[in-house]
Amino acid sequence: MLVLGIESSCDETGVALYDTVRGLRAQALHSQVAMHEQYGGVVPELASRDHIRRVLPLTDQVLREASASRADLDAIAYTAGPGLIGALLVGASVATAAAWALEVPAIGIHHLEGHLLSPLLSSDPPDFPFVALLVSGGHTQLLEVTAIGRYRLLGDTLDDAAGEAFDKSAKLLGLGYPGGPAIARLADTGDPRRFALPRPMLRSGNLEFSFSGLKTAVATQVQRAQPDEAPNSAPDPQFRADLAAAVQAAIVEVLVAKSLSALKTTGHRTLVVAGGVSANRLLREQFARAQAKLGVRVCFPEPELCTDNGAMIAFAGALRLSSGLSNPDQRVRPRWPLEELTPNG
Ligand code: KG4
Ligand code: ZN
Repeated sequence: MLVLGIESSCDETGVALYDTVRGLRAQALHSQVAMHEQYGGVVPELASRDHIRRVLPLTDQVLREASASRADLDAIAYTAGPGLIGALLVGASVATAAAWALEVPAIGIHHLEGHLLSPLLSSDPPDFPFVALLVSGGHTQLLEVTAIGRYRLLGDTLDDAAGEAFDKSAKLLGLGYPGGPAIARLADTGDPRRFALPRPMLRSGNLEFSFSGLKTAVATQVQRAQPDEAPNSAPDPQFRADLAAAVQAAIVEVLVAKSLSALKTTGHRTLVVAGGVSANRLLREQFARAQAKLGVRVCFPEPELCTDNGAMIAFAGALRLSSGLSNPDQRVRPRWPLEELTPNG
């Protein structure tokens, strides 16, 4: 079965072809980062317009690379939510129109389900059940995953997501967008011990997160160092590197500790970490250390599949279709709790 996947929920147009027998056949991605950079974040209307420009050329490109034609497609999967409504509508309209013309099913996929299943695309995929840590720009969630489409929320953020904490801290340090990779790069030359930043909710006794206080702590440090200047003009490179390292260390410590508690609480031995922040090197190293020490298994997506991409959508579509779980409701949903996918959940 050959499934085309289209991702357009935010600032990346991703298209891919997944073959249930031969695996991932081709994928193409266009990132809008350069276009949004000058505004310091994603401008929704510009995002939608750019998806319109990119989606068909990218689709032709993946079909060509896989030496496949439209007539070979057995289904078309697209991101139905959550995300920016205008951006989602582009992928959904193209997918449903093409599926109708080709007389194949169109499958609306939950963006976070795409992320959460993406480590299953690797050569040594994890088995169900597992605990998943989903860390993206808009979400920080711990879930118990017992099968495809069976997700129980264990913990969520009360305010900012981990990716958002990276992005907002980066802004305060005068770094570009997206902030995660920029903070990670700068942190390489910094000393994380120079600033004692809070570890929010570390000892809360539950699996909830809160990251908004971290942003305030960063703002306070920047203000203290530069009392008379605009906060985002902190010029001392070592100051910025040390603060970047401290932010990264604080976020990573909380994510690792809560995920290990979730394994303990549920009794599962496998953890899947997915979403844009799962690309973070320190996070991967800390989990690798915990894995060796505690005898648990921690699985990540391939590095190029951590951030948004079409492959995870094509793959989730293929898994849903082969499990008889495709959803006939083709509306897009800008807000869509992942647990709603679970029957009676
Ligand atoms: O999953 P994703 O590509 O888009 C959403 O669904 O939100 O995640 C984007 C988030 C951004 O907040 C970005 O700063 C963060 O992932 N990110 C990282 C890294 N790469 C991307 N955060 C920390 N370290 C990274 N290397
Ligand atoms: Zn994402």
